[in-house]
Amino acid sequence: MHGIVHVELQKYVIARHGRPVWLDLLKQAGIGNKAYLVSQQYPDTDIVALVTAASAMTKTTVPAVLEDFGEFIVPDLLDMYRPLLKPEWRTLELLEHTEGTIHSVVRLRNAGAAPPQLQCRRVGPSEVHLRYNSARKMCAVARGIVRGVARHFEESVTIVESACMHRGAPACKISVKRAAQSSSRLAS
Ligand code: HEM
Repeated sequence: MHGIVHVELQKYVIARHGRPVWLDLLKQAGIGNKAYLVSQQYPDTDIVALVTAASAMTKTTVPAVLEDFGEFIVPDLLDMYRPLLKPEWRTLELLEHTEGTIHSVVRLRNAGAAPPQLQCRRVGPSEVHLRYNSARKMCAVARGIVRGVARHFEESVTIVESACMHRGAPACKISVKRAAQSSSRLAS
């Protein structure tokens, strides 16, 4: 997996709990003293071990940790890939273009990176349906990223996951609805 995810997880844990907790988590996850770099690729197993240890330490479920982490990473993701984003996009438009414009470029630029297949269908002016499919089964990160993107654009969204790979579905189905007041605020 792209080192940005590992570097961001480190940043996330330090921001929420402090550096000593990060060092402790590395130890608990059996990783030792590793310094992650954005320019490298690292095993998915590091993320799984770290998030599992963080979940046990904070007595928070793994999906809740992943979702909070997903929300946390959005500002840095948007900063890193800013040239790919159109100024007129808001939450739903960014989601619509993630697969074709963002994840596809991530795949091209980073040989080892494999962002999830994310199909997005605009089903109305205020709603998109996402279909998430990845062997990593990190739909919680996807929900968190949606929340973070909405926060970035100061929009309010409702997120409903109606099918999930963790419940045996072939893919996760996530609907994202933008609240009416978000669009009126945008229009004003
Ligand atoms: C500016 C926007 C975005 C950027 C720059 C970005 C970039 C990335 C990168 C670099 C990875 C690591 C991939 C790897 O190494 O295999 C990743 C993974 C991921 N992305 Fe995105 N992404 C963006 C938006 C989104 C959105 C909108 C969603 C979902 C709503 C999403 C869902 C995910 C998930 C769930 C993963 C974890 C890996 C997996 O599930 O297989 N991303 N993304």
